[in-house]
Amino acid sequence: MSSYSDNDSDSILRVAEEVRACSRCRLAVHRRNAVPGEGSSSALLMFIGEAPGRREDELARPFVGHAGRILDDALSMAGIDRSSVYITNVVKCRPPMNRRPRRDEIRACKQYLEREIMLVNPRIICLMGRTAHDSLLYGQFREHRGACVEHNGRLFFTTYHPASIIYNARLKDVFISDMIRLKGIASAARINSINKVD
Ligand code: URA
Ligand code: SF4
Repeated sequence: MSSYSDNDSDSILRVAEEVRACSRCRLAVHRRNAVPGEGSSSALLMFIGEAPGRREDELARPFVGHAGRILDDALSMAGIDRSSVYITNVVKCRPPMNRRPRRDEIRACKQYLEREIMLVNPRIICLMGRTAHDSLLYGQFREHRGACVEHNGRLFFTTYHPASIIYNARLKDVFISDMIRLKGIASAARINSINKVD
């Protein structure tokens, strides 16, 4: 088993390579492709979903199916450029029948998520849905939704999972207004970090 902790050359590419070869949990058996995160490795903003779905499993890319289209639409309405952010999931392999990932699967996959966060080092992390929320923040999803909290020196913004909008159309406007609020927070963080560098 390779170990990244005994050298300092860990990288997003290395994480992705290890994810593709990973068999640390039972989800490896069912997948067609593992789905590492993708996007800018120096993104200010990182998005975290739950797990790949059917389309993601086919294409080996996160958020490229129905939920991905909802996310893309909301991002473009908020003026967030998808290529400037980093997008990943709590678990990198599709659970059978799109069931929720189990606790032990989330635990097995956590090192990849932690390394993505460390390496990309985003100022703001957008947690989409309860699985992403509960894997990184204490407290209640419903209390945090639409809000930004600071934790371990980062900002965490919690919103609905885009797939939940497929089943509940009323959430769509809330999701879009959350993305617009997130864009405002990201713009303010960018201005602050530019001021710090100067
Ligand atoms: N849902 C997720 O949580 N992640 C994806 O990549 C696609 C759908
Ligand atoms: Fe490995 Fe994560 Fe896939 Fe499980 S879900 S096999 S831990 S990459």
